[in-house]
Amino acid sequence: MKPAAATIMILPLLVLAALLFRAECYFSEEKYPEESKMQPPTVVIALLARNAAHSLPYYLGALERLNYPKERISVWAATDHNSDNTTAILKEWLTVMQKYYHYVEWRPMDKPTSYAGELGPKHWPNSRYEYVMKLKQAALNFARKRWADYILYADTDNILTNPDTLNLLIAENKSVVAPMLDSQGAYSNFWCGITPQGYYRRTAEYFPTRYRHRVGCFPVPMVHSTLLLDLRKEGMKKLAFYPPHEDYSWPYDDIIVFAFSCRAAAIQMYVCNKERYGYLNVPAKPHFSLEDDRLNFVHVHLESMIDGPPMYPSRFVHMFPKQRDLMGFDEIYLINLRRRTDRRDRMLFSLNELEIDVKVVDAVDGNALNSSDIKILGVDLLPGYYDPFSGRTLTKGEVGCFLSHYHIWKEIVDTQMDKALIFEDDVRFEANFKRRVLMLMEEVELVELDWDIIYLGRKQVNPGKEAAVENVQNLVVADYSYWTLSYIISQQGAQKLLNAEPLSKMLPVDEFLPIMYNKHPNEDYMSHFLNRNLQAFSTRPLLVQPCHYAGDAQWVSDTETSTLWDNDSVRTDWRGSHKMLKGSAPEFLSAAYRDEL
Ligand SMILES: *[C@@H]1O[C@H](CO)[C@@H](O)[C@H](O)[C@H]1NC(C)=O
Ligand SMILES: *[C@@H]1O[C@H](CO)[C@@H](O)[C@H](O)[C@H]1NC(C)=O
Ligand SMILES: *[C@@H]1O[C@H](CO)[C@@H](O)[C@H](O)[C@H]1NC(C)=O
Ligand SMILES: *[C@@H]1O[C@H](CO)[C@@H](O)[C@H](O)[C@H]1NC(C)=O
Repeated sequence: MKPAAATIMILPLLVLAALLFRAECYFSEEKYPEESKMQPPTVVIALLARNAAHSLPYYLGALERLNYPKERISVWAATDHNSDNTTAILKEWLTVMQKYYHYVEWRPMDKPTSYAGELGPKHWPNSRYEYVMKLKQAALNFARKRWADYILYADTDNILTNPDTLNLLIAENKSVVAPMLDSQGAYSNFWCGITPQGYYRRTAEYFPTRYRHRVGCFPVPMVHSTLLLDLRKEGMKKLAFYPPHEDYSWPYDDIIVFAFSCRAAAIQMYVCNKERYGYLNVPAKPHFSLEDDRLNFVHVHLESMIDGPPMYPSRFVHMFPKQRDLMGFDEIYLINLRRRTDRRDRMLFSLNELEIDVKVVDAVDGNALNSSDIKILGVDLLPGYYDPFSGRTLTKGEVGCFLSHYHIWKEIVDTQMDKALIFEDDVRFEANFKRRVLMLMEEVELVELDWDIIYLGRKQVNPGKEAAVENVQNLVVADYSYWTLSYIISQQGAQKLLNAEPLSKMLPVDEFLPIMYNKHPNEDYMSHFLNRNLQAFSTRPLLVQPCHYAGDAQWVSDTETSTLWDNDSVRTDWRGSHKMLKGSAPEFLSAAYRDEL
């Protein structure tokens, strides 16, 4: 066929096709493809790591869980002046993660390991401030050069456990905005006031904000540690970390320099506390060591496991197993009801983080006890015992709890232990728990104190009446108290408790102990026990607290609350002993709770 003939054949087909196509367009206008969605804004995350080996796995774990497309994020990571394993950890993580992020800028520097004039890794000489300002500026320059929409600065001990943090901050549509981070105390990453010299100023707004009594996004003169900058807003060009503004006369400190820069550019900083976004470590004092800093971090970490949202480490960095020990005790016991695996898991996790070895003992489950069991065990109620607040007698849970403690005292005596430490399974550890216990025992031994039991966690009833022990810091002679959250007991102490034959005249174990040290307010109860010579002490401040109180949202009464003595075939329910309320006396009971009793 000649080309001309072919053209003649094809042309009508083309015309026909064109017609059909037009018809198609005409009849199904609705089927036009929609406009593509917008991609999320681009973000640079500025990561400045120094001596952060203890927090980095959690920091990186939180970054990798942010609900934000990684291909819209570039990571700018610098690390230097390290005397720990920070560089290796960061490198290990970036090696795996770089393929997911849009771009990774990696700036490690091995030497030197400290700054000129530095007294320790937590000390900030001017050389260090200046270097950090320059790094933050370099990250800002990087973000600007790449036309990033946002830059997120986040210190490596700021753990953004809420995966929506980045989205939530972006949604606020502010030039400079920080998520309020929680810590072990009142410390956070914002100030509500600033002095004319550029220092922190106390204000009436701080605590209501910090504790979320007022909730929102508030203009403040200072945010630091974690902050998001919207680089698209006009005026942002003027912001700088380095060099400081030409009028700058405030302290030479990167956060104050930046706050001044915002003020000079008429850009308002905001802090948001609408959600829980994450945690920050309280900064260690200048003379502190890296170990102090690590222990602070362990504390925030454990708190996060109770109050949430919890911290989890990155799956892409290697974690070394902890070296646990018994802190000089012959045994450390954790009393746990087998069915409360949640509590066991959290306690084992916490004790592992604290590097404390522990033996789990299955608590006697009051639920499974019946009247014939307790007869065999020789358990009988203390004549006349009844709970003064609720009017009830002993619950099954209280019998189980008593038996659990009793079995441990017996083991201590039978195996001739010198001393042991006992935990119940719903405790919260104070900061530096392990170190404080070690120091305490050292001092107790030094002054050769004659002791039988030392409470680490209990409810003080008359704190004012407790005398300090001479030459031992943070130790008092125990007065009447409730709870047996945690205590240290000697063989002599355990022997005294067994000698009292308490099973045959049982009352709650936390009432039994004060009887044995002769400080129980009820003379009748005391009259059943003759040798009330237990030498009882307590740390002050206490080193553990209950995780939850009765009436708290998370409070779950763990113990079987029916009683054994009334009638086995009838379930009686005495929910949540009054003792687990935050206040100690009945007047502290909320009206709602009083009804329940
Ligand atoms: C430092 O971290 C790397 C990577 O996680 C690991 O391979 C190395 O063993 C660590 N070294 C020390 C001393 O912890
Ligand atoms: C965000 O703020 C800018 C002013 O900085 C305003 O023009 C814009 O409309 C705001 N965007 C939204 C979605 O509110
Ligand atoms: C009490 O419980 C035990 C098992 O723990 C059981 O053998 C016994 O029959 C029970 N007695 C009564 C009266 O229910
Ligand atoms: C226990 O309670 C049941 C049901 O109320 C009753 O029938 C029984 O007589 C009671 N037993 C005793 C010993 O009080």
